[in-house]
Amino acid sequence: MTDCQTFKLVFIGDSGVGKTSLVERTVRNCFNENTDYTIGAAFHKYILKTDDNISVTFNIWDTAGQERYRSLGPIYYRGANAAILVYDITSNDSFDNIAFWFRNLKSVLPSDIVTALVGNKSDLEHRRDVDYKEAKRFANKYGLIFMETSAKTALNIDILLKTLAKELIKRKNNNVCVNDKDIQLLTSKQNKLNIRKKCC
Ligand code: GTP
Repeated sequence: MTDCQTFKLVFIGDSGVGKTSLVERTVRNCFNENTDYTIGAAFHKYILKTDDNISVTFNIWDTAGQERYRSLGPIYYRGANAAILVYDITSNDSFDNIAFWFRNLKSVLPSDIVTALVGNKSDLEHRRDVDYKEAKRFANKYGLIFMETSAKTALNIDILLKTLAKELIKRKNNNVCVNDKDIQLLTSKQNKLNIRKKCC
């Protein structure tokens, strides 16, 4: 029997870190080198099937990172069950600003919503400006799921969404915190094998 669950998920972070690109990769399995900046926020629906055959619908809000839209953010956060805080691994400023985005999120939502910290653009390793361990420490300190992703190569994006879905279902059903010991991140090589063929 297929169970069905619906959750609201918001993407938050500085302009240019790749929020829209992560959403596009998730929803349409495509990547665009030249994206337009988001105005206000954009809505998408994404359905995935967990390994336990549970159908999970994510109502996704991709919020704008530009300064001029910051006051709008909380309007879109309201009622969210999960949030993805995104920084760019090639920009230490975008990582420093995560503390701001996290405070902003917590000002309108209960602190126990499922939250992930995501370092995007992991394909640009040669331009890395944010230490993996430092970001991981931040995530551990605040109990956040942590992953590095690439919207360009699709690294870890399926796993990220599945991990969120699993955590949301567990919390909803059992009110129990998930520990992430069983989460396996993919290497770039494994990921290439996993990228689905169709892409826009
Ligand atoms: P706002 O809408 O202004 O908040 O920005 P955003 O966070 O949605 O960023 P967006 O997805 O528009 O990406 C900004 C730029 O980064 C674009 O040129 C993307 O092609 C590029 N980009 C996004 N993700 C990646 C990635 O994983 N790797 C690389 N190399 N480039 C990326």
